[in-house]
Amino acid sequence: MEKFVIHGGKPLFGEVSIGGAKNAAVAIIPAAILVDGICRVENLPMVRDVSIQLQILQELGAGVRRISASTVEIDCRHLRTCGAVSELNTRLRASYYLIGAFLGRFRRAEVRMPGGCNFGGVRPIDQHWKGFEALGAKMDMRGGIIYAEAENGLTGDSIYLDVVSVGATMNIMLAAALAAGQTIIENAAKEPHIVDLANFLNSMGADIMGAGTDVIKIRGVSRLMGGSYSIIPDQIEAGTYMTAVAATGGSILVKNVIPKHLECITAKLEELGAEVQEYDDSIRVTRSNPIRKLQVKTLPYPGFPTDMQPQLAAVLCLADGTSIVTEGVWENRYRYVDELRRMGAKIQVDGKIAIIEGVPSLSGAPVRACDLRAGAAMVIAGLAAKGVTEIEEIVHIERGYEDIVDKLRHLGADVQRVEEPEPDLIQKAN
Ligand code: EPU
Repeated sequence: MEKFVIHGGKPLFGEVSIGGAKNAAVAIIPAAILVDGICRVENLPMVRDVSIQLQILQELGAGVRRISASTVEIDCRHLRTCGAVSELNTRLRASYYLIGAFLGRFRRAEVRMPGGCNFGGVRPIDQHWKGFEALGAKMDMRGGIIYAEAENGLTGDSIYLDVVSVGATMNIMLAAALAAGQTIIENAAKEPHIVDLANFLNSMGADIMGAGTDVIKIRGVSRLMGGSYSIIPDQIEAGTYMTAVAATGGSILVKNVIPKHLECITAKLEELGAEVQEYDDSIRVTRSNPIRKLQVKTLPYPGFPTDMQPQLAAVLCLADGTSIVTEGVWENRYRYVDELRRMGAKIQVDGKIAIIEGVPSLSGAPVRACDLRAGAAMVIAGLAAKGVTEIEEIVHIERGYEDIVDKLRHLGADVQRVEEPEPDLIQKAN
């Protein structure tokens, strides 16, 4: 059993370099299925979800050649199957992008239902489903497998999303890239990774306009050719380090970022008392003053990201006064609150609202990472707490944070990744 052991209470100083965006990468890798040529993808983050997505493609018969730690070449020209039903699919949420990619390429898809982070609430995919049906696919689900088939091919249509969904927006883009005619997605999500997927597809020959606004127009083309593409920096990884220094105090330079993508996070960090200086492709965050209370509501981009909600909540546990956090995207994303309480945090949750009464300090404790961003919140709380924090179930954290231990140690944190033998193995050894 692996865990992180953090001796907290040290301010962070130094520089950290941000990797490629995980949530762009997990869509761009299956997008390679649509490409009739070799795709060279650069700036891939080396995280577990990306490795799984690459393994899924390999299992389907794609050629995946690693050029360097962050660059791969993917060749899906000889793929003959449109069925991804293995257990690997249940390990990450983003395996649902295989439905759009298979439909676009083969007009058929058979994909085992996705897994991934479970925040405690439902994670529906009805908007993806609605989009595929609008393009002409017949959809069905039996025995945990989604079946999609467009006998007469896919034809563009107008699709209004009833909820702003990152996954549905990207999945419909994938299916529509090679469809006949024009597809219009209205009330589309605007996250930076949506623009990145559109840029990737356009660089391979697609005709997609409006990504980054709430109306995206996709004119189907007959073929996508190979090419080279570099993924944008990860907004949430950057935001996590920015939030960490807000919790511990200190001053760090976060390098290889797009400051524009971080404005929603920067604004809140300034409000709580941190100083933020933006440069062309880096950002410095310094905090020396006490942490101020604030109110925040998570919203689709350009609002404050739900994927930063637990990390910001960890900082607000140490604020001077009472803060109010409202989750505006997911039904439930507060499973981590019990873990923070173990460290001395005072938090009350009522539905989508968390009321956080700041305390002067947190104390290290054994906690667990309930999901990816909850795990990041535990790391931040552990870095700021007095004493030793041991975080279990770090597999969730490693799904989305590349080299987190090395990066934090480089900033002066006392963090170790330790492997302990499983209890039954200890017994056997005795
Ligand atoms: N929704 C529906 N129907 C759908 C799809 C979504 O009602 O068909 C609802 C969801 O229940 C939720 C809201 O719409 O309330 C937004 O969901 P969205 O589809 O945008 O989420 P997602 O695409 O499944 C991605 C990220 C999540 C991130 C959300 C919101 C990936 C692989 N995952 O999920 O990232 O929280 O967008 O920004 O891109 C993470 O990285 O930790 C993570 C969970």
